[in-house]
Order: sequence, then C-alpha cells, then structure tokens
Amino acid sequence: MSALPALDEPIPADSSAGKPVRLPVRSDDLFDGVDRATTVAREHAHGNRDLMALVDVLGIGGPFRAVSPWELEDQERRHLIHAGSYAAVPFGENYPPLVRTVERYLAETHDIGLPQSSLSAWRAAVEENLVAILASLAPSHARSRVFFSSSGAEAIEAAIKFVRAYRPGGTLINFTRAYHGKTAAALALTPNEEYQAPFKPLFGPVRTVPYGDLDAFDAALRDLGPDKVTAVVVEPIQGEGGVIRPPAGFLAGLGELCRRHGIPVVADEIQTGLGRTGHWFASVADGLDPDVVTLAKTLGGGMVPVAATIAREDIFQKMLPGVESKRHSNTFGGATLPMVVALRSLELIHEEGLVAKARRDGEVGLVRLRELAERFPELIVDVRGAGMLFALQIRAVAPSRFLPVDAELVDQVGAALALRALHLGGVHGCYSINAQRVVRLTPPLNLPEDLRNTLFDRVGAMAAAYPQAWRLVKTMSPARWMRLARIAL
Ligand SMILES: Cc1ncc(COP(=O)(O)O)c(C=O)c1O
Repeated sequence: MSALPALDEPIPADSSAGKPVRLPVRSDDLFDGVDRATTVAREHAHGNRDLMALVDVLGIGGPFRAVSPWELEDQERRHLIHAGSYAAVPFGENYPPLVRTVERYLAETHDIGLPQSSLSAWRAAVEENLVAILASLAPSHARSRVFFSSSGAEAIEAAIKFVRAYRPGGTLINFTRAYHGKTAAALALTPNEEYQAPFKPLFGPVRTVPYGDLDAFDAALRDLGPDKVTAVVVEPIQGEGGVIRPPAGFLAGLGELCRRHGIPVVADEIQTGLGRTGHWFASVADGLDPDVVTLAKTLGGGMVPVAATIAREDIFQKMLPGVESKRHSNTFGGATLPMVVALRSLELIHEEGLVAKARRDGEVGLVRLRELAERFPELIVDVRGAGMLFALQIRAVAPSRFLPVDAELVDQVGAALALRALHLGGVHGCYSINAQRVVRLTPPLNLPEDLRNTLFDRVGAMAAAYPQAWRLVKTMSPARWMRLARIAL
C-alpha cells in the first residue's frame, strides 16, 4: 500500500496541464438548429451506434419534434400521433400547465437543486402526496415512506435492498416474462436470456414462477420453505411482456399467501402506476395490498427522470435506521427540479381526472383494436389492453424454417416492420422489450378525443394496407433490406 503524501509535500504535477480541451458543440448551436446528418454522424461516432442505425434504417428514428403535446413531426414532416416513449409520457410533450410550473419554479424560487442531506419542501410535498394517494386506496400505507431515485431500475434496486435488509438470507421470487429493468440486481429479476446471458452469474438466489399461476406460486413457496423466501416481486400487469394481465384473483391470492407467511410483496408499478392502466395502482385495484411499491415513468411527467420506492415504515426503517440512514443513497434522488415536475404531475393527473379518463379511453381503444384483430387475423394475432396501454401481437412475417436466421430474429424484425408500417401511417408507437412480435401504443393519458379517434383510424388504415403479416416486408425497399441485413446479421 502506498503511503499518503505528507501535508507539506508538493502537489504532484497535473500531467494534462496545459493541453487544450476541445469542445466541438455549444448549446447555442442546437438552439440555432442542427441538421439531421450532423446528428446521425455524432450518434454513430460516439453513441449506441447500432441501435441508432437500426431505427434509422427502419425510418422510425426521428429526430422528432412536437407540434402539439400529442402530435409529432419527423424529419420528413410526417404528422404522427404520439403513442410512443414506453408509457412514460402522461401529458404529451411540453404540456403547457406542466411547463408553466417549471418556468415559475425556475423564475421565482431560489431553492437549491440537490438537497440530499437537507430539508426540501418539494421533496417533502411529493412524499406526502404519494403516500396520501396510496393510503387513500390501501389504508395500511398511512405511515409509509418514500425513497427517490432517477430510473425504474434504480427504484427496483432500492426495493430489493429494502426487502433484503428486512428479511435477509432468502430467495426472491419473480415471474416468467417479468421486466424489472437492466441494472445488475433488477436484471436478475428480468428472466430474458438475451439480456441476462453475458452477465451471469447474476444476483440471487431468484426463483422464477409462471406468471399468473397461483398453484405454481404456492408450490414454489412450499418447495423453498416460506421462511426462506425474502420477498416476491410482481408486475400487476406485464407491460414490457406485452401487456399481459394475470387471471382474476391471482394478485389477491398471492397477497393472501404472502401475508400468511409474513413475506413482503413488491408491486412493480413503474409502468402501470399513476393512471396508465386506468387505476392509480393496478395492484391495489386487483386486490393486492403490496408492502413495497415502485414508481417511475409517469411520475416524471414525460420530462424528467424520477423514480420512487414506497415502503411500509417497518421495512423502510430496517434498511435506513439511525446512523445507518445513509446506507442506501444516490446523488440525484429527490433533486428539486424532478420533485417540482413530480408534484405537478400528480396534481394534473388528479385535477384532470386522468385515471378515469384512461380507463374510459382504454375501453374505447380496446374495442377498436378488437375489431381490427377480427377483420385482419392474418396480421393481428391478438390485442390486449389495460387503460391507455395497448398491445398488438403481430403474426410471424415469415416461417423462420425457410430462413437462414433464428426464429427470434424473425419475430423481432416482424415487430420492427409493424412499427415502421405504423410510423408510415402516422402513428409513433413502441416496441415491447420483453415480448416477441408485440408492438405497443402508449398514448398520453390526456389525449384529446379527436386525436384518440384519429389514432385508431390510422392503426386501422395500417392494418388494411398490410392485411397479411408477410406484406409488412414490402414496407422496405431492397436497399433498406440490405442495410438492415448488414446491421442485424
Ligand atoms: C415494470 C417495469 N419495471 C422496471 C422498468 C425499468 O425502468 P427503467 O427503464 O426506467 O430503468 C420498466 C421499464 O420499462 C418497467 O416497465
């Protein structure tokens, strides 16, 4: 071990001193406008090149500009209804009532931005409101506490540490097709070989049980021994899994079994929570009284990264007691700007009645999609929905046995082509990162009625244009296919 330098020793020379630093882009350049080719070149040189190349070859890569909160324009000035951004845009882009609050905060307050270890009126307000909303529906949460972070996966990491500290030494139970994020411990709960394989061994032990199968869950509890189970982590509806609802009674039954054995249940409401599925909390609406709840996406108003882990007081206190209350922390959690946005977002969802609106519009949308599935069974195998979270499961574009590539790749390409077809027809949708052949529509919760109707009209026009899945292949010219093959194979 090298000894520390004595205080009076000269400071070693800075080996980079005197070298000029290059700063090729200035923020003003972007306000002035930057051409697409420059952005492509920069992303390709220094970003996730292959992802950008894939979306580029599909023609769905933007950049997009918002022409209203709910309408976008791509680089070809194509008009698109916004149903993308993975369920994280509750009010559309730059919704004026949210923007005004942010502007007012920046203009009028002098509160510090990162009050990690000091009081913050904004953070305290979001804590109080989140717990009040949850406790209005699940009264046992009246004394719960909130831990903030900046992404869904981070909220899951915090949840895992909370339950580990509370009930150490056991196995975590998760479910098939679950999606809880891609950071190291969250990844261990996301049973998808494509994402997990290179990173094994993963955090554990984890036991994966078939989603929706209460008997299998009960059997796993008995097999592991309930005392050896640390917690259960469950999505009330699997969003990235392709909008999969468990059978009626599954969540309530799971909650009852866990309560009997004192096993905490973590409800991952990162995608479903705060109105998206027509409920404040999809888990509570389905009869579960979770011990820990994770939130992200909607809480950030489509504008800032923010996530929250709400835990019952005893669970919270076990991980963060007394002088150990710094045991889990992060720099940006509870930062003031995200808290301003989160506070106003909760208020807008409440004031504008967006939970009930999402439920009503979701029913209308699902009826429209079901009609399409009936009319175009050679394109759409199934449609599913929960509030403003919709999935279209696309038929395979080609039987993979005739192609020199694996079935999974063919399915991924099929979903990508469906997204391209939607895009060409004026709908900005999203992929499902944990399901094959599923594209999703996750429109803003406050989408006006005329745009909602246009959205489903456009999905219908797309289906009519490609009534059999194999026809989706024709959305791409031979030159584009060559480019795609070069990237994907
Ligand atoms: C249910 C669920 N949990 C966790 C995550 C991970 O969130 P993030 O992408 O913000 O890390 C997601 C993201 O889609 C999600 O849907």
